[in-house]
Amino acid sequence: MRKTIVGTSWKMHIHSMEEGMKLAAGIHRLVGQIEAVEMFILPTYPMILSIAKELEKGNIRWGAQNICVMDKGPYTGEVPPLILKELGCRYIEIGHAERRAMFGETDNDIYKKVRCALAYDMIPVVCIGETEADKRDHVGNVRLHTQVLWALNGLQIEEMKKVILAYEPVWAIGKTEAADAQYVENIHGYIRSILEREYGKDVSQEIRIIYGGSVSAENSGQLTKQENVDGLFVGRFGLNPENFSKIVKTAMANKSKGWRG
Ligand code: PGA
Repeated sequence: MRKTIVGTSWKMHIHSMEEGMKLAAGIHRLVGQIEAVEMFILPTYPMILSIAKELEKGNIRWGAQNICVMDKGPYTGEVPPLILKELGCRYIEIGHAERRAMFGETDNDIYKKVRCALAYDMIPVVCIGETEADKRDHVGNVRLHTQVLWALNGLQIEEMKKVILAYEPVWAIGKTEAADAQYVENIHGYIRSILEREYGKDVSQEIRIIYGGSVSAENSGQLTKQENVDGLFVGRFGLNPENFSKIVKTAMANKSKGWRG
């Protein structure tokens, strides 16, 4: 059974230590003791240590928004993966649409980053999703299929099962509304069918597929009622402890029947 998971990336929205610490403390206070939902926060690199200290006594884990595929050496401005591991990072976000669009990350880069995160025993949260143009041209399925193949290429079955796929349609990021819940369910079902065809039923049933893109306290209910939505990846609308808590509790309520732990 797939454990429900709700995570949030703060991107660069949180831009002061004070603001980040306040937010982490608020989230910790409201949902830090929940066990039925796996939870994580991805702050910016320099904030990780302080956030880790804030969260260490509860059930919310933390991680990073990116990873460097080099272990060490002359890579100015990069962060060694071992340091992320030492900071207790459990999750590594990989291939977010903003990194693909603004920092030129390719599927090949993402393939390497997934392997790197796993090599350091951290969980890759791989973002995949079609663009507005893909959708218009009816090639969203091709985009998703390609992205899944790159992300999981060459992994052992046990490694694959650790990966979390975050379906984030590019056209639904940073908008007022998320993608329609039924549309999301259809795409998640399609992604699971790719997994089954390529890697077998066992893998397809175990990999968690979460949805991201304008998730809010309001739309989290419809989204988490969908069978193939294993959780949510929250952006702007989770930058407030009450909203994040509502999203986690809604996911918990909707998914509790199915979860065996
Ligand atoms: P958003 O971000 O919820 O602010 O649209 C989601 C994401 O990019 O993961």
